Amino acid sequence: MNPVAVRFLAEVPGHADTLARWHHAQWGELYTDWTLDVATNELIDHATRRSLPTTLVALQGDALLGSVSLVLEDAPELRDQGDAWMASLYVVPEARGQGLGARLAKQLVAFAAQQKVERLWLFTPEHASFYARLGWRPQGSVKLRGVPVQLMDIVPV
Ligand SMILES: CC(C)(COP(=O)(O)OP(=O)(O)OC[C@H]1O[C@@H](n2cnc3c(N)ncnc32)[C@H](O)[C@@H]1OP(=O)(O)O)[C@@H](O)C(=O)NCCC(=O)NCCS
Repeated sequence: MNPVAVRFLAEVPGHADTLARWHHAQWGELYTDWTLDVATNELIDHATRRSLPTTLVALQGDALLGSVSLVLEDAPELRDQGDAWMASLYVVPEARGQGLGARLAKQLVAFAAQQKVERLWLFTPEHASFYARLGWRPQGSVKLRGVPVQLMDIVPV
């Protein structure tokens, strides 16, 4: 079996549409006005660069297994909270529970350090303990469209 590689979406831009469908199905209800078209256009944009804002993908051969993004803003309601966010960590259901989510998250933090991000933020509705095990610190909770989410931060190194 092929090993899993983490690469920039820019190296495989044809996966932007599939990724957008997965992301929109997973998180569409959290955001106002974040249609499938908007999600697709964001990823098509990310596929044009290997610097913030951009997306990393996990690939096994040609098969897309997951992704994670480094963005300037993840939700307009949280614009004042921070200026660099880890967003859209996603692993396909059949590849979960094997460490790939942790690997993508760690690789994104290392990439943020290369990009000179001094403090990186995320919000999560349900995976705070997973991120805490990876070194992220809880920074309070807020509601997004009525859904409680935990804010967390990390100093990228
Ligand atoms: C959250 C998510 C990215 C984790 O990906 P993953 O590849 O399963 O992550 P890992 O294997 O590194 O770790 C998952 C944790 O759940 C445990 N786990 C075990 N079986 C699992 C399974 N079938 N599915 C998910 N997690 C499982 C793992 O042991 C691990 O716990 P640990 O850190 O105590 O070891 C993935 O479940 C996902 O894409 N979920 C939907 C999108 C989402 O919620 N993203 C996060 C947004 S904040």
